Amino acid sequence: MKIEANAKINLSLEVLGIRPDGYHELRSVVAPIALTDTLELTDAADITSDTGFADDLTVKAARVLARHCGVKRGVSIRIEKRIPVGAGLGGGSADAAAVLRGLNMLWGLGLPLDALVALGAEVGSDVPALVLGQETRQPVLMEGRGERVALLDKNAAFAALPLVLVNPNVFVSTKKVFDNCLFRVTNDPKIVYNIQQSWKLGQFEALREACQNDLEKNAMSLEPDIRKACEALEAAGAPKVHMTGSGATVWALAEDSAVAQRWAADLAQAGFWVCATNTIVR
Ligand code: C5P
Repeated sequence: MKIEANAKINLSLEVLGIRPDGYHELRSVVAPIALTDTLELTDAADITSDTGFADDLTVKAARVLARHCGVKRGVSIRIEKRIPVGAGLGGGSADAAAVLRGLNMLWGLGLPLDALVALGAEVGSDVPALVLGQETRQPVLMEGRGERVALLDKNAAFAALPLVLVNPNVFVSTKKVFDNCLFRVTNDPKIVYNIQQSWKLGQFEALREACQNDLEKNAMSLEPDIRKACEALEAAGAPKVHMTGSGATVWALAEDSAVAQRWAADLAQAGFWVCATNTIVR
C-alpha cells in the first residue's frame, strides 16, 4: 500500500522550561502541510526500510506497533523523499507517523487514533502530533515533550493557507539549538489563544501576527545562514517570517498562492531550497 506522510510547520513554539529528564517542556501549535514523503509498505519477512539510517524512525515505529499488537509479520518500507531531512519540518517523524497509520490498516489492527498517538510518543517527540495532524488534517496543540496532543480547534475557518518554505541548505543540531536557549520568563497562554481564535475566525492578519518561535534567536546565532534566509524572504516581500521547529527551515504565510509562488521563485534564484505549499484541510 502507498501512504502520504505530511510534513509540519510549527506556527508557534514556546520553550517553557527544562524537565527532570533533560528535555525541554514545550508548547507548540503544529500545522500539517501539503509537502509529503510517499511511503510504500509491502509485506515482507522482516521490518526494513530503504533509507539506510541506523536509527530510522520508520523501522522503530513498525517495531513498536508490532510489539504492542503481538504482530509477527514484517514490512518493507520504501520512501520517496521530498521533505528535507533535519530541517525542522518533522520529516523523519512524519514518515514514522505514516508507518503507524499505514500498518494499522495493512495489518488490519483497527487501533483507534488515540492508541496510535500514544504509540507515537514511544517513537519520537514529534510523532504524536504528526499522527494526529496527518489523520485529522488539522493543526494540533502539542505540550510536554510532545506526548500531550489535542486538536487546536475543530471549527477551522480557513481553506488551505498558502505558504513558502525556505531552507538555507545548512544543518543545525536540535540538541545545540535547545542547549542554552532562553526560557519564557512568564508562562503566558496568550500565544496559543491568539492562534486558536484567529484560526477559528479566519483572521489571516491576526494569525500571521500571532506566530512565533522561541528557538529562533539561538538557532540564528548558531547558524547565521538561517538569518540570511529569513532576510531574503522578507526582502522578497514576506511581512512575517519564522523558523519551524529547531530549524533550519524558515517559512511565511502568503495571502494567496500566486504570492507564495512569486516569493518562491525569487528565493530559488538566490540558491535556497524552496517550496511553495499550503496547510491542509479536512
Ligand atoms: O527529539 P529528539 O531526540 O530528536 O531531540 C534531539 C535533542 O534535542 C534531545 O537530545 C534534546 O537535547 C533536545 N530536545 C529538548 N527538548 C525537547 C526536544 C528535544 O531538549 N522537547
